[in-house]
Amino acid sequence: MILSHARLPIPPLRHEFKEGKTYLFLIFYYISRESQILGVVLKTSWRKLMKDEYYRDYLDIVRSFRQYLEKRKEKGVKAVSSENEDSQELLEKLFHSIQRCRKCPLYKFRTNPVLGRGNPKARIMLIGEAPGREEDLQGKPFVGAAGRLLGEDLRKAEIPEEDIYIANVLKCRPPRNRDPSPEEIKACFPFLLEQIRIVNPRVICTLGKFATQTLLNTKQSILRLRGKVLSYQGKIPLIPTFHPAACIYRPDWRKFFLQDLCLVREQLSRRKGT
Ligand code: URA
Repeated sequence: MILSHARLPIPPLRHEFKEGKTYLFLIFYYISRESQILGVVLKTSWRKLMKDEYYRDYLDIVRSFRQYLEKRKEKGVKAVSSENEDSQELLEKLFHSIQRCRKCPLYKFRTNPVLGRGNPKARIMLIGEAPGREEDLQGKPFVGAAGRLLGEDLRKAEIPEEDIYIANVLKCRPPRNRDPSPEEIKACFPFLLEQIRIVNPRVICTLGKFATQTLLNTKQSILRLRGKVLSYQGKIPLIPTFHPAACIYRPDWRKFFLQDLCLVREQLSRRKGT
């Protein structure tokens, strides 16, 4: 059987590869899109290359997209490039996959999964840790006390609302707001990666230790990392800062938090027009 263009899976995100074969593999992928001959070979070796758990996450996401694209086709839309899709619709699709997600036990405790809020084509993406009680009830991130502090400081830093999209590493609330476990982060991470791909921000700002360490794949302390312009996958500037909830308990950190948000705004104006 030869796979057609439409049935070839979308290339996986870089973090999902552990080996240096990535680039070689992507080259094969694109050749096969042209030739349609290597499809079968690719699909098999692809599965071997990726860990099984990643492969399942990856397939879930690909399946959602395929359904979405089929619907678009039914409606008579010809272009199927995901870059041209409407971000809002893609995020809605992603939300439906999260509603069906059973990859970790947190779905049992949630009232609502929390995907994100704000402009789906925002130039700045803020990434927190996990929904708290209010967020779980309302299905939106940062709508409790930490969210109010964040809103105040975004205004002080003169970052307009239309420039912002807010998300979390975990989409379901951990019981009693405990720290996310490594297994929960691992299970939920593909959703965040897809969310970043869809929003495609110019600058990312991670709020607190979990978001920072997860996106940078490091164990370094937030105290060392905050206030620096680092990089997400070598492509998007990433600025870590404190979690706004931490600034409630440590009011002396708030000035650094505001400084970091100002750095985010500055970084954005540097990247204007890119
Ligand atoms: N803390 C977070 O990290 N995210 C929220 O959405 C709310 C509080």
